Amino acid sequence: MTERNISALLASVVLAVAGCPADEPAGDAAPDTSPADGPPADRQRDAVQEAGADSAQTAAGVFTLKVAGRTLELTVLSDRVVRVRYLPTTGKAHPQRGWTTTVTTWPTAPLTFTDAGTYWRHRTAAMEIRVDKVDAALSFYDLAGQPISRDVPNQLAGGYSRAVRKVLPADEHFYGLGEKTGPLDKRGQALQMWTTDPLYPKNNYTTTADPIYQSVPFLIGLRKGKAYGLYLNSTFRTHLDMGKAVTTELRLRTEGGDLDYFFIQGPTVAGVVRDFTKLTGRTPMPPLWSLGYHQCRWSYYPEAEVRKITTELRKRKIPCDGFWLDIDYMDGFRSFTWDKKRFPAPKKMLADLAKQGFKVTAIIDPGIKRDPGGSYEAYNQGVAKGHFVTMPDKSVYVGKVWPGKAVFPDFSRPATRAWWADLVKAFVSVGLRGVWIDMNEPATWDPAGFPLDSVFHGEGKGVTDHREARNVYALLMARATREGLQQATPNGRPFVLTRAGFAGIQRYAAVWTGDMESSWAHLGMAPAMLMNMGLSGISFAGTDVGGFSGNPGAELFVRWMQLGAVSPFFRTHVSSGSPPQEPWSFGTQAEQISRAHIELRYRLLPYLYSLVRQASEQGDPPLRPLLYDFSDDEQTYKLSDQMMLGSWLMVAPVLHKGRRARAVYLPAGAWFDHWTGAVFSGKRQATVPAPLSRLPLLARAGGIIPTTEVVQYIGASVPTALTLDLYPVKGQGPTSLTLYRDDGETLAYKKGTYQVLPLTLATDAAGATLTVGPTKGSFATADKQLKLRFHGVASVPSSVTAAGVALTKRASLAGLLKGGGWFHETAGASGTVHVRLPSPAKKTAVVCAYDATAALTRKVTVTFTATLPAGTPPGDIYMATNLHGWIPTGHKMTRSGNAATATLNMEQGEALEYKYTRGDWKSVEKMLGCDEQKNRYLAVKDGGAGKQAVADTVGKWADTCKK
Ligand code: GLC
Repeated sequence: MTERNISALLASVVLAVAGCPADEPAGDAAPDTSPADGPPADRQRDAVQEAGADSAQTAAGVFTLKVAGRTLELTVLSDRVVRVRYLPTTGKAHPQRGWTTTVTTWPTAPLTFTDAGTYWRHRTAAMEIRVDKVDAALSFYDLAGQPISRDVPNQLAGGYSRAVRKVLPADEHFYGLGEKTGPLDKRGQALQMWTTDPLYPKNNYTTTADPIYQSVPFLIGLRKGKAYGLYLNSTFRTHLDMGKAVTTELRLRTEGGDLDYFFIQGPTVAGVVRDFTKLTGRTPMPPLWSLGYHQCRWSYYPEAEVRKITTELRKRKIPCDGFWLDIDYMDGFRSFTWDKKRFPAPKKMLADLAKQGFKVTAIIDPGIKRDPGGSYEAYNQGVAKGHFVTMPDKSVYVGKVWPGKAVFPDFSRPATRAWWADLVKAFVSVGLRGVWIDMNEPATWDPAGFPLDSVFHGEGKGVTDHREARNVYALLMARATREGLQQATPNGRPFVLTRAGFAGIQRYAAVWTGDMESSWAHLGMAPAMLMNMGLSGISFAGTDVGGFSGNPGAELFVRWMQLGAVSPFFRTHVSSGSPPQEPWSFGTQAEQISRAHIELRYRLLPYLYSLVRQASEQGDPPLRPLLYDFSDDEQTYKLSDQMMLGSWLMVAPVLHKGRRARAVYLPAGAWFDHWTGAVFSGKRQATVPAPLSRLPLLARAGGIIPTTEVVQYIGASVPTALTLDLYPVKGQGPTSLTLYRDDGETLAYKKGTYQVLPLTLATDAAGATLTVGPTKGSFATADKQLKLRFHGVASVPSSVTAAGVALTKRASLAGLLKGGGWFHETAGASGTVHVRLPSPAKKTAVVCAYDATAALTRKVTVTFTATLPAGTPPGDIYMATNLHGWIPTGHKMTRSGNAATATLNMEQGEALEYKYTRGDWKSVEKMLGCDEQKNRYLAVKDGGAGKQAVADTVGKWADTCKK
């Protein structure tokens, strides 16, 4: 008998001893109703141990299998979610502190595992779980018998370990992992979870920096359109290796506690994210104003400066809701104090700002100034009540941050959180609307870092130390801060922004990506960071627009503003010592473009707010990678620089200096250029115009995008019209969107004071039908008018009706504005039907009858002919283009004599940037006098019969040029 056989025998013997015949469910367990933090597994184990047995198969919803060296405990939370814990056979399970998941009731129904020879098997309605009898290794299969995720067999050779290795197929991709720099797909990387300020001890915030501020030990594996999730439920330092050490293995490891993880079966990416956020919590509805534009710098002071900037924002008509106070408002960097010279009357100032529509958020750092013998209350109280983190010898740990020597509240202690919440409540009562918490990794400028043996209370579940508490320090600080704000305004929606956090941080705070530098490289890494954070549950996130350190200059600032305009959290912020970074700081053109994009943001608020509602209810991130909506299209798996804002808008920010066209991958369907109305076909690589003045934005066929009028701030006026941009395309749909509205401010929505308005768009050969309503909920909007724009309507409609009644056709937009009805606009690339009607009181269909069979896209074969300079050496000529990734050999031309020709199949409305080369950058084209040849630019336009001819003359070649 082999060793394996013997162990298998032993394992089944253990099961038999426990008295549970393998094929039958265990007897009725007493239902576990206590909402305790720990899963019933703990209590179950205790019960089993008391009874003197070694192991039991199932009871109280837990499947237990004891094998040599370890005990497996499985809890099946739903058809798709399983908790897996491995414990050493000797010793106690690590305490469950209840910090990271929101699960309050653990399943108690008996679990049936059947004997399948070498393994135990359990089937849910969505997957099959297999447990190896010898080493308790796990595999998950779909119901068709295809493996989803499998442990590497025989990993127990070295005995119990806090690590698990999984078989990694070559074509698997990884997403999530919280806030990480680098590309979207984390395949091939090994990442750590250990909340860290990457700027200390030396600036290491780079495209490969790891770890950084946030720790979310959660990943999504995606392969051939099928996704699953793994959440390593440990707050100790953890390591996730996605095929770096061994290309065929996924490895998860924690440095402390038990090996404890959740497996989530998709198969959709959205399904995984929804289940993960069910487990760790979702973003509660934020106040609507917090989705507006925020102006910040380190720091606006004194009061006169605050008034100057806020007045300027209004004067220049730059919409803005949030205004921010950084650390210099404090008295000597003491949290919860004001510098009385700089801000002699904060209450009055905040009241005045509130009248101007500004909602002010102030920063609060956890490092409390060590201030013995003084009158600093936070310090004195904290010492008196033992709120600060101590060392093993019971002395208070003293670190160093902004105020110099500082001590740190122990947020793992409920009494300390309550105390902190009281401080917050009292402090914000002066008129602050939000709290910004920072330096909460926690940062300390002690070269040795925060001592690992510093003592933490551990939630009353047994003391612990920094090793277990660090990763959740910010999470618990955010929780206490939010509680303080909630107490200050019981019917309000607290707004907290945090730099550090752990899985579940979205329950308490919005997140920003910390101190990014004002560089193209940092702008470039932002989209993937935001998208992966969204997939990790952190849907309310943003970056410092313009970058935090350095001087972006006009172009980078404007491009960053464009990204900000579609980021869930939209704030300009900059370091002390850096030049001004207000929207007007970079000249008139940059100011205009910034304003236009901030206005775009305000227009999109009804859409964004509905997405935010969806995030709060289901977990779907408003800003997400294309693979979220197109997971069957493998071309989307590595797109780090294109995003979806909801299902209907694609955003392709410009992330490189000097670019005026943007290559994009368009998934199947048709795509409408937001700015020009041009329509492009999908399932191909395209290149769209991207002048400095525009964020490339494409609406997807079938799209329904609710918008509103621009206001200077939320609350300035109540919109009386609902506008819907509609993108009907025959063969796409019916599509739908649920518009969500409420008062944007209070918790009344929780009691039904909201409005849900279902919208559906269906298109056939005879035209498009929009169905509006019926509404749900008791919130009364001020809507008087419904404004519709049917895009892509090339020919004049035969009629437009609402609830079967024909609307009046108008001859001009002015006529429409006056009298309502409809107007067909032909300006723009594809034609638009504008409709205005009184807000329908009940479910209504608006039918726009037109020939929807007309082609929306126009293919154009572009022929390039380049006349080459005399003496061009023999050899191939190429076009380097933005469409071909700016590779010098991007597109080979046909050479004949002193001319080279090439054709590209493009579509009307696209734009191409290009240069001619002889195969490398050393031989790129120059102007006649050998000066730099700027990128050539082509606006694609049908010159007749679907053809366009371009004739260029190459002046010189770089390598043969002599100035
Ligand atoms: C940290 C924050 C930054 C803030 C500064 C001063 O660097 O990340 O946003 O401005 O501290 O408080």
